[in-house]
Amino acid sequence: MNTLTQEKISEIRNSVNIVDIISSYIPLTPKGKNFFGVCPFHDDTNPSMSVSPAKQIYKCFSCGATGNVFKFIMDYENIPFLEAVKKVADIGGVSVNIGKIKKKQNHTELHKIYDLSLKFYINNLNTKNGKEAKEYLKGRNINEDIIKEFQIGLALKQGALSKILTTKFDPNEVLKSGLVGQNERGYYDLFYDRIMFPLYDLEGNPVAYSGRIYNKVDTSKYFNTRETEIFKKGNLIYNYHRAKDIARKKNQIIVMEGFMDVIRAYTVGIQNTIAMMGTAVTETQAQLIKRMAKEIILCFDGDEAGAKATMSCANELIKIGVTPKIIRLEENLDPDEYIQKYGKDAFQRKIDNPISVMDFKLSYLKQGKDLTSPVDQAKYISEIINELNNIEDDILKDLTIKKITSEMNIDEDLIRKHLEKKPKPQKPKKTENKITTDKYDLAESALIYYMLKSPEVITMYNNKVTYIPNKEYRQLAREISNFYKKFGFINEADFIDYIECDEELMNTISNINKKHTKDTYTNSEIEDYISVIKDYNVKEEIKRLTNKMKNLTDPLDKAKIAEEIVSLKKGV
Ligand code: UTP
Ligand code: MN
Repeated sequence: MNTLTQEKISEIRNSVNIVDIISSYIPLTPKGKNFFGVCPFHDDTNPSMSVSPAKQIYKCFSCGATGNVFKFIMDYENIPFLEAVKKVADIGGVSVNIGKIKKKQNHTELHKIYDLSLKFYINNLNTKNGKEAKEYLKGRNINEDIIKEFQIGLALKQGALSKILTTKFDPNEVLKSGLVGQNERGYYDLFYDRIMFPLYDLEGNPVAYSGRIYNKVDTSKYFNTRETEIFKKGNLIYNYHRAKDIARKKNQIIVMEGFMDVIRAYTVGIQNTIAMMGTAVTETQAQLIKRMAKEIILCFDGDEAGAKATMSCANELIKIGVTPKIIRLEENLDPDEYIQKYGKDAFQRKIDNPISVMDFKLSYLKQGKDLTSPVDQAKYISEIINELNNIEDDILKDLTIKKITSEMNIDEDLIRKHLEKKPKPQKPKKTENKITTDKYDLAESALIYYMLKSPEVITMYNNKVTYIPNKEYRQLAREISNFYKKFGFINEADFIDYIECDEELMNTISNINKKHTKDTYTNSEIEDYISVIKDYNVKEEIKRLTNKMKNLTDPLDKAKIAEEIVSLKKGV
């Protein structure tokens, strides 16, 4: 728990209007009493998120995401509760001393192992034995400030780290870290003689390393930590935590291929950059990028592999409704090399003049083809038609058709004839299919849904419901009832403060919101829900007693239980 009082948290929340804050992240349009926008928490293009200035909460009618202003910022920026509170306090001009924000609420043993290994590696680089590695970094124009900022370290001789870690931590846990292995002779280091670049999770905790060779020839230039409980490559983005605020301010994010490129750009003051972890971009990563800024620029390596990666990353983004812009670098250079060769200004000019994704694709598809040969021509045109079918933007589609027809000197109708007429089939919404219609589930969730809106329903729950079968619902109902007991009123925004946006409880609220949308209720509806819940409890009790009876031998005991069952059945 934190040191802030409930009153202070509520003062901070009331110092801003949720509509102003959310509209600084996503465009909102007023409609009736509420404001609407495209929900950033699921894949969508419809304005299914509503923001209520009266209730100071948001709610998505499609995926069920809901919360107050803190919850929105937490989820949008992937930051913990207190950090979101601090952000809002700054915006609202409320002075508050939160102290040093704990990096992670669930700092696990593995995180501690990484924290210690990081200290160890950083220290190594500053010792006598670290000289050669320092020289290498200097040779690459990586100065002390950058070494500090990116927490670059060094793994030296075999066995040093495993010794420290296995004495300080449970060796079983250490083996899970991906830093230490075990054979018949004992524990050994998986990294040695490598310059260690920490890789971070979205909150900025070190959770893995990429180790680079610097003093020998080796088949692998970089050796990376394998996936662990805390390191899932496909969910992370290099430099996300450092870049996100600045990307949001500039409303522009530059995506690169390697972390060395990001580090280089940072040294020349271009800090809104991130890198993929050397693998194809996943949908999770694409969603994260989408939320970072409106303008997304892909600046991968200038070689053929970089062009291919650009193509696949662009397509992944287009799939989720984002059209990135593209930078291509000459002479097969990567951004790191380009910046060092041509300087910051030349690179900045590239950023200021990216090409459209369609122009990139046209020139990419042209590569390796002889456009004077009819066979290659036909292939080129058919590939372009394929691309055109993926464009949703009619204007862009039209412009591209014009461009290609004049370039190839062919008839527009010919192309149009080959375009797919039918609208693309809508992806079924994953979230919507799973909604259970079990009558007990519906009754329990409905009861809680209205408890969040009305003290009257909370009172009915307190007086009439003894036990809610579903554990998640039960916990939530208990918290709502506690809140009401303590404060004597109920409203969602305050309740969410009270539970400090607890992840499990918030998920339960979202799930409930997916099932129910009606704002009003009648008392008899609530009575019905309660009787369904009671009905369930009785049935469970009968089941329990019947089982119990089976195991009894004494006929008198049996008769007693049978009697109980009969009276329960009468009540049903
Ligand atoms: P690059 O080969 O483009 O790395 O790989 P780079 O940034 O230019 O590195 P330097 O300048 O030679 O030091 C891009 C990314 O691919 C992954 C790394 O994540 C790297 O950042 N990679 C590359 C590996 O994982 N292993 C390798 O052997 C090479
Ligand atoms: Mn490089």
